[in-house]
Amino acid sequence: SPVQPPDLKLCTTPIDPGNGAASVNCCLPVSTTITDFKLPTNLPMRTRLSAHQVPSSYIAKYNQAYKLLRELPASDPRQYSQQANVHCAFCDAAYDVNGTQVEYQVHNSWLFFPWHRWYLYFHERILATLIKDDTFALPFWNWDAASGYTLPPIYNDSKSPLYDANRNPLHRTPAVVDLNYNFTESNSSAAALLAANNTLMYRQMVTNSKTPSLFFGQPYRQGDEANPGAGTIENLPHGTVHVWTGNPANPNDEDMGTLYSAGRDPIFHAHHSNIDRLWEVWKSLGGRRQDLTDSDYLNATFLFYDENAKLVRFGGV
Ligand code: C2O
Repeated sequence: SPVQPPDLKLCTTPIDPGNGAASVNCCLPVSTTITDFKLPTNLPMRTRLSAHQVPSSYIAKYNQAYKLLRELPASDPRQYSQQANVHCAFCDAAYDVNGTQVEYQVHNSWLFFPWHRWYLYFHERILATLIKDDTFALPFWNWDAASGYTLPPIYNDSKSPLYDANRNPLHRTPAVVDLNYNFTESNSSAAALLAANNTLMYRQMVTNSKTPSLFFGQPYRQGDEANPGAGTIENLPHGTVHVWTGNPANPNDEDMGTLYSAGRDPIFHAHHSNIDRLWEVWKSLGGRRQDLTDSDYLNATFLFYDENAKLVRFGGV
């Protein structure tokens, strides 16, 4: 049967991130009311733009949205740290799957793509609501294209609310992203790195992911042990871009380089916006590249706080 979300009252805290990092509490606020989510039908179509190509009017809006997000009261489930905690809570053994004693984990299985799509959806709606602009959409970090191979400059300004100090200082713009990053600096030229990145993208999107289960990852059903196996993209380049961005001087490459802290960096959402885009790109490649049809996948149930700080529950990817 499909995986049931955790009971938010049953949260393990603190979590020990390991390697000497301070323990963290990322339990989400508990809510006595859970409403059934309905996808709004009255919203305008939103278009996500490349973070390297957004116009200055957009940059102003995006900065303003993040400023307001950071200024919300700490107890508000929409607040910046609470949003980061959503990722930590559902990814770092804070909860068990409801009614079981197995860890709830949205990585390394077929839940990876849909869960992160919903996480972005609510994050985006929260930002849009804060700036009262229903046309607002997150940008995407287009690290698989020649126009997007560096950390997008909008995240580099230390005075911007989009900035995060916990990033690799060697990887600031104009360093070229290494989609095969393995904690050592590549000594290839920018052109050679771009070529290697293209080869890697072709392998992960085309050669190695001819079937849905290769692309999406292994089945993960109610009662299953967590981490049955990731799909091609989740491993590379999703994971490599995470560790390339985080700071290796921190115990676990915080922020982006490890699950519990990754959501603290506003670039996380642009990174995942690109993952979300690649899901569509992959389906457009044809052949057997189609969405999964297993009902345990289609009916997996999720919990999120929405743009009005209400806890919503829904089944379906
Ligand atoms: Cu939940 Cu990019 O990881």
